[in-house]
Amino acid sequence: MPEHNYTRVSLFSGERIPLEMHKARMVQRVYLRHVKERQAVLAASGNNTFLLPNRDVFLDMLTDSGVNAMSEAQYAAMLLADDSYAGSETFYRLERTVQSFFGTKYFLPAHQGRACENILASAYVTPGSWVVTNYHFTTTKAHVTRLGGQIFEAIGDGASETVSTDPFKGNYDLARLESFVKERGVENIAFVRIEAGTNLIGGQPVSLGNMRDVSSFCRAKGLKLVFDASLLADNLYFIKTREASCEKRELSDIVSEMASLMDVIYFSGRKLGCARGGGIALSDEADYRKLRDFVPLFEGFLTYGGMSVREMEAMNVGIQETLDIDTISQTPIFVEALGVELQAQGVPVVTPFGGLGCHVDAARFVPHVPQEQYQAGALAAAIYLVGGVRGMERGTLSEQRNPDGSERLSSMELVRLAVPKRVFSLSQMKFVADRVGWLYRHRDLIGGLEFEDEPATLRFFLGLLRPVGDWQERLVEAFLKDMPSGL
Ligand SMILES: Cc1ncc(COP(=O)(O)O)c(C=O)c1O
Repeated sequence: MPEHNYTRVSLFSGERIPLEMHKARMVQRVYLRHVKERQAVLAASGNNTFLLPNRDVFLDMLTDSGVNAMSEAQYAAMLLADDSYAGSETFYRLERTVQSFFGTKYFLPAHQGRACENILASAYVTPGSWVVTNYHFTTTKAHVTRLGGQIFEAIGDGASETVSTDPFKGNYDLARLESFVKERGVENIAFVRIEAGTNLIGGQPVSLGNMRDVSSFCRAKGLKLVFDASLLADNLYFIKTREASCEKRELSDIVSEMASLMDVIYFSGRKLGCARGGGIALSDEADYRKLRDFVPLFEGFLTYGGMSVREMEAMNVGIQETLDIDTISQTPIFVEALGVELQAQGVPVVTPFGGLGCHVDAARFVPHVPQEQYQAGALAAAIYLVGGVRGMERGTLSEQRNPDGSERLSSMELVRLAVPKRVFSLSQMKFVADRVGWLYRHRDLIGGLEFEDEPATLRFFLGLLRPVGDWQERLVEAFLKDMPSGL
C-alpha cells in the first residue's frame, strides 16, 4: 500500500489539527442525558463505567476494543464470508494474510485476545513459574496467576512517571530483565512477553531497537519470546514517527523485522484489524502443535476458533489496512488533540501522548482522595456524571488483591478516555475537554468509592461500588449552577 501520510498536512493558519483521512457514510445517533438522569444511571450501575448501558452514554470512550469504525472494504468483505464449520475459504484467506503480514508459518484462530492468553498460559505456565513482561495487562496476569504462575515487570523506572518526554516508555529495562533471569534461573521462566503499545501505562510504545535487544538476550538464553501485538497499529505509528532509524522504512518492513524477533505472536483482533476475534502466529512446529491442541478444546474448530466468518473477513482486510499510515495515524493524532485541549484546561494527563486513548492522571487530579478509595474509579464516575462520557479506570481497582486480602495499590491511577479509530470528531473531543476541565476546577468536590459487591477475579468488570459520602449530590448541584440546562 502506498504511504501518503496526508496527516502531516499543515494549515496555513498554523493551527495543529488532527486531519481525518476518511469520511463518514454511516453514523450512529447518540444521546446526552440530563445530569440528574446520569446520576441515577451511575448509581444503578454501581459507579462502574463497565456497567453503564450504552443508551445512557453520550461519548463511549471506555475502550477501542471491537468499537473502531470499520472501512467500506471491511464491510464489503463480510459479504464474501464462506460459512462452513471446517475448511472455510474465509479462514484460508485470513491465514494467508496473517502469514504474509508477520512472515510466520502458522496461524491459530481464537475468539479474542484473552483466549490467546488462555492458550499460551495453559501451554507454558506451571505453578511457581514466572512470566516476565515489560508491563502486565489485566487479562494476561489473570491467566498466568490462575495457573499458579507469577508476573515480573522489567519495564524502565520512568514508565510510571506520568509526566515524561521519553518517546518509548514501554521499553524494557535490559539490566532489570538480565538480573531477574540470573536470580530466578532460565528454567523457572515460562516465557518473556513484550506488549506493544503498553496499555496500562497509557498506551506507551516499545521501540524496535528495544525489541531487538530483548530478542537477542532471549535467544542467547534460550528463553521463549512472546509478543502481544494487540496494540501494534499505534506502536507501529510511533516507531515510524519517533524512531529516527525507521522514518524512511516501509511499515511492512518494520512489521516483518519486529515479527522475526519473536517466537510467538498473539493479538486481539478487536484492536489489531478493527474487527472482533484474535489469533496466534508462529513458525516453530513444536510450539504450533502444542498450542494447536488447545484450540478445538477452548475455542472451536481450527478453521474458525470461535470467530464468525464475517468477522474473520473483516479482520483480514483490517490487518492489511494496518500498513496504511493514514489509517493507523488516526488514533494517535486524535489522542494528541484531546490531550492538548485537556492540558489547556490545566488537567494532568500522561505524556508523551500515547496510543489507545488520552490518559488522565487521577493521582494528580484528586490527590485528596485516598488511593484505597479508588482515585481513578471515582474520577471515571465523576467524568460520566458531568459529561455523559464513559472512560475506564486503570488503577488500583483494576488490580487483584494480595493473597492476604489487602489492597495492591497500583503504581498509577489513570482514567483512560479511549479514542477508537475514526469514531469521534474534533468538536466531540473539545466537548470532553470542556467538561473534564470544568470538573478539574471543581475537583475538591470529588470523593472516593467503596465496594458494595466485589468479585474475586477481574473485579473491575463487574464490581458494584458506592460513593463515600454525598459528594455526587454536591457535584451535581455545582454543575447545575454553571450548566442550568443540565446537559
Ligand atoms: C495489550 C492487550 N492484550 C490483550 C488484550 C485482551 O484482548 P481481548 O479484549 O480481545 O480479550 C487487550 C485488550 O484490551 C490488550 O489491550
